[in-house]
Amino acid sequence: MARRKIQIGLAGLGNVGMGVYANLSKNAALLSQRCQADLDITRIAVRDASKARNRAVPADLLTESWQDLIDDDAIDVVVELIGGVDQAKTLVTAALRRKKVVVTGNKALLAEHGQEIFSLAQEMEVPVYFEAAVAGGIPIIKAVQESLVGNAIRMISGIINGTCNYILTKMREEGWSYQEALKEAQALGYAEADPTLDVNGWDAGHKAVLLASLASGRWVAADQIHVEGVEDIRLGDLRFVETLGYAVKLLAVIRCADDEPMEVRVQPCLVPKSHLLASVNGVFNAVMVEGDLVGETLFYGSGAGQDPTSSSVIADIVDAAVGLQHEEKRGYVPSSELAAVKPIADTISQYYLRLHVDNRPGVLAHIAQITARHDIGIMSVIQPESTGETADLVLMLDHAPFGSVQQALAEIRELESTSDDMTLLRMESFEESP
Ligand SMILES: NC(=O)c1ccc[n+]([C@@H]2O[C@H](COP(=O)([O-])OP(=O)(O)OC[C@H]3O[C@@H](n4cnc5c(N)ncnc54)[C@H](OP(=O)(O)O)[C@@H]3O)[C@@H](O)[C@H]2O)c1
Repeated sequence: MARRKIQIGLAGLGNVGMGVYANLSKNAALLSQRCQADLDITRIAVRDASKARNRAVPADLLTESWQDLIDDDAIDVVVELIGGVDQAKTLVTAALRRKKVVVTGNKALLAEHGQEIFSLAQEMEVPVYFEAAVAGGIPIIKAVQESLVGNAIRMISGIINGTCNYILTKMREEGWSYQEALKEAQALGYAEADPTLDVNGWDAGHKAVLLASLASGRWVAADQIHVEGVEDIRLGDLRFVETLGYAVKLLAVIRCADDEPMEVRVQPCLVPKSHLLASVNGVFNAVMVEGDLVGETLFYGSGAGQDPTSSSVIADIVDAAVGLQHEEKRGYVPSSELAAVKPIADTISQYYLRLHVDNRPGVLAHIAQITARHDIGIMSVIQPESTGETADLVLMLDHAPFGSVQQALAEIRELESTSDDMTLLRMESFEESP
């Protein structure tokens, strides 16, 4: 039987696109044998074809119009790696309308428009693959879509932004300030030139939307989830938390309980040092998935970077190639209905609250009155030594709804004896229902 040639149109030849181009060629023989087809990139769309690249690419492959990929009837698979949302959406929907299989690593696009894109894909009867959109080289999408498909997913928790994890790790290990750690992350190429989406938590937020949608089987709207980043994390808190036996990690937490809205949030959290996620350092990512049948599973690896991310994109291209030959489609996608998401105010956990207060008798009593009024128990109070007029005061708060804690905090902030310098962090229990 003649080998099928799968023609690929690659949109984007940046960090990931170049990795895909180089590694499809590097592993061409084994890929051809594994998917019984030749995978050929026949056209590459870039913004600027005259740009110097760190690997030679035949000029006749390049075009500055991604429309050329869509208009080429011989192209079976369009790989979208241009990033951004608006252009990428126009490109992906145009490809689907021409019945081309789509592979994308674009979490922002799918988190904001996944529902619409997958409805169109269903209508056109072509698949969209997106392994690289969450946790770079870690095969977490296929794990949830395929390997764990028999489970009701109870919880997903993970470190899914390498830049934030690098920043928190370096602050703790090297004693760097947030700004110093961010600058180094940029110098090493971990953070974007504009790192806003990394540090404000939304890169992880977009990934959490995709994981939550797969976990629930219904699309989760990005504006329904709660997202905080690492910009306000203080070195002093990291140090103090460490003495208490915790590490601070930017966690994505997804909880699905029967007959209840799901919990989806991204926040810096205290993780007990004995927990596996506490030892995930630097740019590494890790995702824990708990299913009702399988129990706990852990996925660990490189959450970004040229080669690891290209590993995921190439796996999708192989799926696309196999699907095109056998007319099959791998992996379920969420239904077009929207999932109900619990308001963040109703989510419950324990908390670390550091206040900076006047160092005099009676201050703690006032604070305790406020927390009691909001039905929040204080598990312990720690006052790092201070002989000055003001002092840090750390309260470990018992399980309470986030909304009650925020109301109490607003009242504590009004106290004359308390300054605005305060930190509230969740303590993550990793239990199905805290
Ligand atoms: N970087 C990672 O480690 C990583 C990991 C997982 C997922 N992703 C996702 O993968 C995607 C690509 O990321 P990246 O880091 O490779 O981005 P990048 O380095 O900025 O590369 C973007 C590429 O797209 C091209 N491009 C931009 N707009 C275009 C347009 N309108 N038409 C044609 N080409 C256009 C650029 O062309 P020029 O080269 O001519 O400027 C460039 O080659 C993003 O969605 C990102 O979120 C990245």
